[in-house]
Amino acid sequence: MADKPVIYVLNGPNLNLLGMREPEIYGSDTLDDIAGRLEDKAQAAGADIEVRQSNHEGHLIDWIHEAQSEDAKAILLNAAGFTHTSVTLHDAIKAVSVPVIEVHLSNPHAREPFRHRSLVGQAAHGTISGFGALSYLLALDAALQL
Ligand code: DQA
Repeated sequence: MADKPVIYVLNGPNLNLLGMREPEIYGSDTLDDIAGRLEDKAQAAGADIEVRQSNHEGHLIDWIHEAQSEDAKAILLNAAGFTHTSVTLHDAIKAVSVPVIEVHLSNPHAREPFRHRSLVGQAAHGTISGFGALSYLLALDAALQL
């Protein structure tokens, strides 16, 4: 039997604080709550997910490379603040053939001007933002259909 497809879900800085971090913007779900829902949805679709979070840029880059070597079907990436600053994340996304779906809980375009530029989005396959925790589930739907 063929291995199940695996989808990486990578989360950047401060997303470990979801649930208590500015809940008026990011909602009251924790990252574990979101991971549980993603797990259920992936399982129902016959896929595996690998959910990770780090406050360190290099970890995210290593995991993007790992997703490629593990032959992942897609990466959902909420790079948080690094979205707007990281040339190295942009380059890592370009360096792999795994499609990357940029995810945000909030809609960065409706927020401060410094959030309007996304170096991740400029390299990603597509972007889903502004739906709170549902953004991740919508992105998983997209990944499953790629
Ligand atoms: C975020 C949006 C970013 O601008 C911000 O730095 C975050 C979270 C989101 O999911 O809405 O940390 O990526």
